[in-house]
This record gives sequence, structure tokens and C-alpha cells, in this order.
Amino acid sequence: MPRATGDTATLPPIMVGTSAAIREVLVLADRAAAGHATVLLTGESGTGKDLIARYIHARSSRAARPFVTVNCAVVKDPLLESDCFGHIKGSFVGAQRDAVGKLELADSGAILIDEISCASMRMQVRLLEFLETGEVQPLGASGPPRRVDVRLIAATNANLTLLAHSGVFREDLLYRLRVAHIHLPALRDRPDDVAAFVAHTIQRTGRAVRFSDQALALLAGYHWPGNVRELQTTVEQLVWMAGVSVIDVQHLPAPFRTPGLRVVSMVERRRQLADDLYAGVIARTISFWGELYPLFLSRDVTRHDLREVLRRGLRTTSGSYRALIPLFGMEPHDYKRLLNFLAAHDCNVDPRPFRKRTTGTADRGSFTMAMLENPRKASSESSVERPSAES
Ligand SMILES: Nc1ncnc2c1ncn2[C@@H]1O[C@H](COP(=O)(O)OP(=O)(O)OP(=O)(O)O)[C@@H](O)[C@H]1O
Ligand SMILES: [Mg+2]
Repeated sequence: MPRATGDTATLPPIMVGTSAAIREVLVLADRAAAGHATVLLTGESGTGKDLIARYIHARSSRAARPFVTVNCAVVKDPLLESDCFGHIKGSFVGAQRDAVGKLELADSGAILIDEISCASMRMQVRLLEFLETGEVQPLGASGPPRRVDVRLIAATNANLTLLAHSGVFREDLLYRLRVAHIHLPALRDRPDDVAAFVAHTIQRTGRAVRFSDQALALLAGYHWPGNVRELQTTVEQLVWMAGVSVIDVQHLPAPFRTPGLRVVSMVERRRQLADDLYAGVIARTISFWGELYPLFLSRDVTRHDLREVLRRGLRTTSGSYRALIPLFGMEPHDYKRLLNFLAAHDCNVDPRPFRKRTTGTADRGSFTMAMLENPRKASSESSVERPSAES
């Protein structure tokens, strides 16, 4: 087998922020760093999961040993399994020589399994076995497995508990993973940190530029769907393009000055995408679970896009989630899976506006997916889930 090498991270990354939320994250990260437990990192995209994984490793006794990463949304089976466990020449089409897996490369160090919600069932089983035995058996190998000592850090922006309830993520693996669980807060929930992130980003550009207090206040009030990553890009662009030493309100892009404008500018592109996806799903040229679902998990399709597809479906079914099942080419037993998946990823759409109005009561009150999970309860309490033919 070829010689194994891996990245070695020794210096902890600089963690910006002094808010109570980020201080709590660092306390938990230090606690995790002091031991060898498996860590589960959750949080929206761009909140710093990758960074905190490196921080934990660099502050641990394993710091001088490799830190390797695997991204389950990018690499698919059997390459993902081979990436982690290695393979023997000829074990699958394209395996032209033996390869060492990243778990072996990370021996006595750590591995970050990123986007773990995208791991296939087979991969989940293999990871569970690894967590239980510490043994690595390359694909196609028949000899005794190798024992390695690797700290596993898993990261995801999905709700694994709900995915486990819907049967797409193994509950036993989830228990194994969240020995230490750290949730990275969204940037909008820690506006106190925005000024520090701005200063840090400016410093990295090496430019003598600053933001006015009013401009900083607008940045702090923004909802930052892309979190710290989006803030960094925004600040870098302003620093390089504004051509002034003090960036003021008038230099900020329009969405910061007029909330809602960004949404308007994106609507047309997104509408087209949602139209195409919906047309593909109902024409069966796009499989909901086989294609749309993985596209969503890999973030090629956003939550907004998925909701738009649902809205188009609910319009057709007069607000019936159950009638979406045949419309989207799913099997009857997929109903619960669909509801759990939508709830896990906060993709649920209130069906009531799509229903033919029969009484004034149906539109009142707030909608929850729980109303749909028990169809009997749903129909008696909110009349949400009757097939359109009955309404
Ligand atoms: N507390 C922090 N201090 C300094 N930089 C940060 C902090 N949090 C996030 N960042 C920066 O924000 C960017 C996004 O962070 P990171 O890649 O760790 O996010 P993530 O949660 O892994 O995102 P994704 O889910 O998209 O993979 C990186 O450039 C990272 O360095
Ligand atoms: Mg990441």
C-alpha cells in the first residue's frame, strides 16, 4: 500500500467573537479537546463548524498528529467508503491500485466527517462499526482488520434527530456521535460579534479601512443567511471595491439599506429553478428521493427552492400533503418519511392557503407539521389533511 500522509494542524485557529453564545461554544470545545470523545457539531452553513473542529483538534493532545476531512456531500459511495476505509486494487470499477483510507491516515489524530447527514445507510453502518471497534477493513480486503486510534468529529447542518425519526439516519449512530454535542449559533443570533468579525476581516485584507458606526449597525441587524462566510465575503468586497477609507451606509449594497431588495432580485432566477424542478418531479424525469433529495442535502437546491416545489404541488393538490405522494411519484409509505424530512430541514409549507376555503376557521392559528403527522388528529383539529377530492 502507498505510504500514508495527512495534514497536521498544530496551531489552534483564531476564534473571533466575545458574545455569550460563542463563549459557551468555546467552553464546550475546550472540554471536548481535553478528552478523546466523539464530537457532533451542528449549526447552519457558515457558522464555523469546520473551524471549531480544527480548534478542538489543535487544542487536544493529538494536535501534532494528522487532522483529515471527509465530506459526505461531495464524495459518494463507493468512493466515500473507500475514502474513509481504503480499498484493495480491483475491489470496484476504477480501483486501479490499493489505497489507504483516511481513517488510517488519521491514526492517533482526528477525522472530520463533514455533512454526515448525506452518508448512505451502508456508510452509516460502517461508521457505526468503526466507532464500536476502532477497526478499519479496506474495501475488498480479506485479511484481519487494522486497529486505529482516531477521534471522530462529525458535522452537519441538518437535524439528525428528526432524520433518525424518519428512518434516513441511524438512531444508534446518532447516539454514538453525540457524546459531545456542540451547536454553533447563527450569526443573526449573536449580533454583538458582527463588529469583531468585520475588524478581523479588514485586518486580513491588510487595508487601512474602517466602517462607520451607522454602517456597522446595519450589518449587525442583517439576517446573514450565509452566516460568517457571507459576512467575510461582503466585507472583503466592500474593502476592495468601495475606494474610500471609511465605509459608510451609502457604500453598503442595497439589501443592507433596503431590507427585502435582495429577495426581489433573486425571485426570478429561483422561480425558474422551482418551475423546472416541479415539472421534472411530476413528469418523473426527476426522482424526489433519488435526485431532488440529494441535491438538497448537498445544497445545490436550497430550502427556499424545495419549499417552492412544495407550494406548486400543494396548489395542485388543494393543500393536501397526502396527495403530494402520488403526484411526486412516491410510494404510499413515504408519507411519514416526507413529513419528517420536511420538518427536519424546516422546509414545511403551510398548506392552508392552498385549500379551497370552506370555513373561516381553517386559516386561523399557527401551522405545525405535527398537525399532519397524525392524519386523524389533523383532520379533526384543523381540517388540513383531507385529500383535495374530499374538500
Ligand atoms: N468564530 C469564528 N472566528 C473566525 N472565523 C470564523 C468563525 N466562525 C466562522 N468563521 C469563518 O467563517 C467561514 C465559514 O466557517 P466554516 O467553514 O467553519 O463553516 P461551516 O459551519 O463548516 O460551514 P458549512 O456548513 O457551509 O460547511 C470560514 O472562513 C471560517 O474561518
Ligand atoms: Mg463545513
